[in-house]
Amino acid sequence: MNVVIVGTGYVGLVTGACIATGDHEVTCLDIDEEKIAALSNGVIPIHEPGLDALVEQGVAGGNLAFSTDADAVVPGADVVFIAVGTPAGLNGQPQLDAVFASVDSVATRLGAGATIVIKSTVPIGTNSAVSDRVREVRGDDEISVVSNPEFLRQGAAVSDFLNPDRIVIGAWDEESTQRIIDLYASVIDDSAPRLATDPPSAELIKYAANSFLAVKLSFVNEIADLCEQTGASIAEVTAGMGTDPRIGNAFLNPGPGYGGSCFPKDTSALLRASQGAGAPSRIVAAAIDANRTRRRHMADRVMVHFDAGTTPVVAVLGVTFKANTDDVRESPAIDIVHGLMRAGATVKVYDPEGMEGARRAIGEDPLCGSVEEAVEGADALVIATEWDEFAKLDLRAVSERMKGSMLFDFRNIFDPSDAAEAGMTYYSIGRPIRN
Ligand code: UDX
Repeated sequence: MNVVIVGTGYVGLVTGACIATGDHEVTCLDIDEEKIAALSNGVIPIHEPGLDALVEQGVAGGNLAFSTDADAVVPGADVVFIAVGTPAGLNGQPQLDAVFASVDSVATRLGAGATIVIKSTVPIGTNSAVSDRVREVRGDDEISVVSNPEFLRQGAAVSDFLNPDRIVIGAWDEESTQRIIDLYASVIDDSAPRLATDPPSAELIKYAANSFLAVKLSFVNEIADLCEQTGASIAEVTAGMGTDPRIGNAFLNPGPGYGGSCFPKDTSALLRASQGAGAPSRIVAAAIDANRTRRRHMADRVMVHFDAGTTPVVAVLGVTFKANTDDVRESPAIDIVHGLMRAGATVKVYDPEGMEGARRAIGEDPLCGSVEEAVEGADALVIATEWDEFAKLDLRAVSERMKGSMLFDFRNIFDPSDAAEAGMTYYSIGRPIRN
């Protein structure tokens, strides 16, 4: 099939590069000339393992291209994916300007019988609004609109796309559903279940799945707090929980709170939608509130050890919202840095991939070029993101470089005994302080 992807962010680019591994001609379309020029020269603007190779393979194979020219690429398309951003507005509602601008740009150019696929995360009812818009601008009913939400984790987006737990296809008619099933046939192994449903259900599946994961995280973070107050150990508790398949072991790692470009946005969107629909979700509201409070107070766990008015030097390792991404959007690590600064600390920051984002979020001064530079002379060390590079550190060598000896491991990447052997006073999440 002739496939066009509108939007070249991490979802659009991964979708295009992965679909190009099938029997399809794929063109990624964007309005950003600079971005398209860079992509055409093999420069990938995002850090996603495996994406560079797939893009190179698609371009070399001649079935993946990049363009800014809708007139040239849209008329011949069988399927157009809308994969543009839907950031949360001030009221927590997803902003759909880019979605409708993209729909307007393709609707009149598409040949009759083509399909628009909404891959962007959009509120319930958007599929219907897009269908109305297409009918209005074309004056005919020749284009079908399908909802096909993505479940891609940043840092694992390529593998998540090619090995999904499920493919959700929301359409009102069999023919449109079958066309998308056919499209994925040569891209994704048959073992991944194809769930054909209606558009509103497909739209809600995305929000409900992400919000459930966020609720699970806020719950495990609260249980970690309870562990700290009762001498229990979170790893033992979550192991005892997760062996029950109804709970599952995944997503039970406590931390400084969840972040990223999805959970905060999607939980707010679900909450607003539920309130607007007269079915307010108090559970999602509580998870959002618990997460917000947690992120805001992580820095207090450090500063409580220093007298008010002192200006300790605190090294923070990690600024991205999780490991294996360069994204600092809604990163709890940034909240920790801001909290430390507000409390009078001098902060020194290092991250393997997120320094560009850190520069934008916290300015140039705190940035360091290496772990060694960040920990040099520090009164305390905070682990804010669970990069492998940090887990492999020689804590004795780190301790010798530091002035103080306190280690705050907000991702539980170290074993308390290793920290004790290195002569460090070790604080972590959901574990009693034993040394
Ligand atoms: C998430 C969903 O996983 C994905 O399916 C959806 O399409 C987009 O949103 P992503 O935001 O990339 O993906 O990150 P994810 O790996 O899910 O982590 C989200 C947040 O939860 C991160 O801040 C992470 O640090 C945190 N987290 C995750 C934990 O604190 N503990 C865990 O056990 C897992």
